[in-house]
Amino acid sequence: MASASPVSVLVLHGPNLNLLGSREPAVYGRTSLAEVNRLLERHATERGARVSCRQSNHEGQLVDWIQGAAGEGFGAVVINPGALTHYSVALRDVIAAVALPVVEVHLSNIHGREEFRRHSVTAAPAAGQISGFGPQSYVLGLDAVLHLLARRGSSPRPRARRPASRPAR
Ligand code: DQA
Repeated sequence: MASASPVSVLVLHGPNLNLLGSREPAVYGRTSLAEVNRLLERHATERGARVSCRQSNHEGQLVDWIQGAAGEGFGAVVINPGALTHYSVALRDVIAAVALPVVEVHLSNIHGREEFRRHSVTAAPAAGQISGFGPQSYVLGLDAVLHLLARRGSSPRPRARRPASRPAR
């Protein structure tokens, strides 16, 4: 029997993450975005998966990529929305709209930083959030979506269950 094609994961980096390596190294470290992407490509290969890594400083571009992810053949999305994490209702809505599992990642521990960074509007509709492990946050995020896909047999995310108290129709 022919083997199934490897799972493809779309990795998205939001605003200012193209500056990784030189941007506030005390907070975000010295690893460049290209190095993060290579780390992810290596890890995906070891796990028998594939990644495609993209970066944009534009909210609408990130929304378009997430809307189109399933149509492009991706099984899941890992996203670091950067500052959009804290205010983008458009990103929150597209994460809620798509059937693919989405995991949110952050290099820094946003919960231990300035007050305005402690709240994520995008995390609630995501499958989960990983925050504070530097570039390893992305690797953990990739492992998290691969785990979800394996558990679901690569099928799209199931609809939320009805609350137990509501009678089924
Ligand atoms: C970040 C945290 C955000 O608050 C910030 O705006 C970023 C990077 C992180 O990876 O730690 O751009 O998402």
